[in-house]
Amino acid sequence: MTDLLAYRDRFPILGDCTYLINHSLAAMPAAAEERLLEYARMWRERGIRSWGEGWWDLPVTVGDQIGRIIGAPPGSTVTHQNVTVAEMVVLSCFRQPADRNRVVYEEANFPSVRYLYQAQPELEVVPVENDVAIVEAIDERTLLVPISHVLFKNAEIQDVEPIVRRAHEAGAHVVLDCYQSAGVVPFDVTALDVDFAVGGSVKWLCGGPGAGWLYVRPDLAQRLEPTFVGWQGHARPFAFEPELEYAAGARRFLTGTPNVPALYAATAGYDVIEEVGVERIRMRSLELTQLLIDLLDAAGLEVGSPREPARRGGTVLVRTPDDAGVHRALGERGIICDFRPDAGVRLGPHFYNSEDELRGTVAALSEIVASGSYAPHAGAVARF
Ligand SMILES: Cc1ncc(COP(=O)(O)O)c(C=O)c1O
Repeated sequence: MTDLLAYRDRFPILGDCTYLINHSLAAMPAAAEERLLEYARMWRERGIRSWGEGWWDLPVTVGDQIGRIIGAPPGSTVTHQNVTVAEMVVLSCFRQPADRNRVVYEEANFPSVRYLYQAQPELEVVPVENDVAIVEAIDERTLLVPISHVLFKNAEIQDVEPIVRRAHEAGAHVVLDCYQSAGVVPFDVTALDVDFAVGGSVKWLCGGPGAGWLYVRPDLAQRLEPTFVGWQGHARPFAFEPELEYAAGARRFLTGTPNVPALYAATAGYDVIEEVGVERIRMRSLELTQLLIDLLDAAGLEVGSPREPARRGGTVLVRTPDDAGVHRALGERGIICDFRPDAGVRLGPHFYNSEDELRGTVAALSEIVASGSYAPHAGAVARF
């Protein structure tokens, strides 16, 4: 596994600090800068011709690359700016839900998605405590079941299969948010039989912001009609016809002009993830997260995330007397991580992190906590 350290050279920031925030914004591959230059060159030299030379189709071609990582067939995944927009596109397929208007919602899901569902007057959000409670809460009035594959606060892997089984039995649709799993925990949306999957690229996929994505199960994509749609979702966008005729397949889930520079940058991340392979990344992630847990135990620090490999995502949480203060003190020592309210300090190693970095981090943590060198401060809030 140490051969994965050979990839460190491809991520410039790793030379400057201990980068353990891959659950939030993973390290930028140097190749992303080249891709952005290529985008600028196209814009400068090819101008309007760039649309026909790849730009227009980027939401689908880049979607296909994501599809290879998440087990989606070609033509079933498209890009959007972020998860919230992708979820809105899904919601827009179910505008008049009548009696089937419930969204069974695990409380630990990422809140942006919850806000979106709460803001829809026709929907009733039914909050539940955990993945087991989701299965119990699904009934014949359930329209949608948005699940986070890996929870953002404590990186717990959720048991997706029983939820999908129960949802389909009751006639509900499952939206799997894979943001915290794509690129670090292997999964296959086709085998899981989810109806929709959403995610983005800033985290384990190393793709940077602005490259969210949406997978729609191919048979559903033929029949659903999103009401949040635009000219990219039309069967003949360049005919500029007055009436809407949906494009075939996942293209109908598009809106307007794509986020071209973000999609250029993102492919540099996907390339390296495909090259290393998510199975290999997962093996390395389990080694590194286990080492972190062992080091934290030995230092007498409390681990706040799951210990069992089957439930463990890519991030390890440590509870501290003052997460904001400890986070700041770590930052002053060049150790980049973050913290979340009522959760703890999040340490998220990726395949390019070394054992030595983890040893140094836990040594620094122990010293900061033992010495109380996290000075008290007022009004600190969790930031990126
Ligand atoms: C599970 C999960 N979903 C969604 C998001 C973000 O959503 P959006 O792409 O709309 O910003 C995050 C984190 O930023 C997340 O951890």
